[in-house]
Amino acid sequence: MEYIEDEILRLKKEKKAVILAHYYVPDEVQEIADYIGDSFALSKKAVETDAKIIVFAGVRFMGESAKMLNPDKKVLMPDRTADCPMAHMASVKTVEEVRRRYKDVAVVCYINSTTELKAVSDVCVTSSNAVHIVKKLPNQTIFFTPDKNLGHYVSTQVPEKHFILNDGFCPRHDSIRTEAVALAKEQHPEALFLAHPECSKDVLAMADYIGSTSGIIQYATASPAKEFIIGTENGVMYELQTKNPGKVFYPAMEDQYCINMKKVTLEKVRNCLRDETNEVHVDAELSRRAVHVLNRMLDLAK
Ligand code: 13P
Ligand code: SF4
Repeated sequence: MEYIEDEILRLKKEKKAVILAHYYVPDEVQEIADYIGDSFALSKKAVETDAKIIVFAGVRFMGESAKMLNPDKKVLMPDRTADCPMAHMASVKTVEEVRRRYKDVAVVCYINSTTELKAVSDVCVTSSNAVHIVKKLPNQTIFFTPDKNLGHYVSTQVPEKHFILNDGFCPRHDSIRTEAVALAKEQHPEALFLAHPECSKDVLAMADYIGSTSGIIQYATASPAKEFIIGTENGVMYELQTKNPGKVFYPAMEDQYCINMKKVTLEKVRNCLRDETNEVHVDAELSRRAVHVLNRMLDLAK
């Protein structure tokens, strides 16, 4: 009998497919992926690959972004119900109201958003390039949507601009409490605290380093420190531990799991690849209006 991992590797080769996985999906899925990365690295990989089929082990906005950037490729998602709740905490109507009120505004849309929201935005960003891109924009007024926490963090790094923040948040990161971080610091006094900018501003104020999932992994790998408290989803522990067998990583809080990312199992990866099911489709006209924000991000991030 063929093991499921071998079956996936065989199917991948037969079908000239590539598997892209976010750091938050289960360890065993990261293990069989061709590339694991943060949202930005995966968007770039999606553009660079010459594979005919992209299996996107992640959530809906990732699959839709990959499809918009590769309209001629088949993009498959292991679980079509894996969706980011924060993407739905923003509305097109709010963007229209903000545009009416502030003539000079740039609508900056976090990639964790619906395609409809991207279609009415000016540029897309991820947590690893948001500061860099917002600094480069000619506009003085920034409407940052959907994530108020990332938006607030960016505003502290670009104080010369005026920010309006949408009221969305990541339920996973926003639930990390300052009390839990304080307790972890007390229990591990030598450890550095590395936090994702989707955490609340009070939690970020306690951090030794703030960055995207890739940023956190790179920082911990380059650091001479041996212990770290991690303020993001626990899936990053797989890469942190693989790259740093001699270092110790503690979660800032127990149960830091994104239930949507954890829907992506090996069985579902195998099934969608074998049967070519769960193909991502984005309406052509909607895609035409939304893809420019992704292309502008790829361009401005250079
Ligand atoms: P990054 O991988 O860009 O750090 O984003 C984290 C996240 O929440 C993705 O859903
Ligand atoms: Fe969305 Fe948060 Fe899950 Fe990322 S970790 S997919 S932002 S709910």
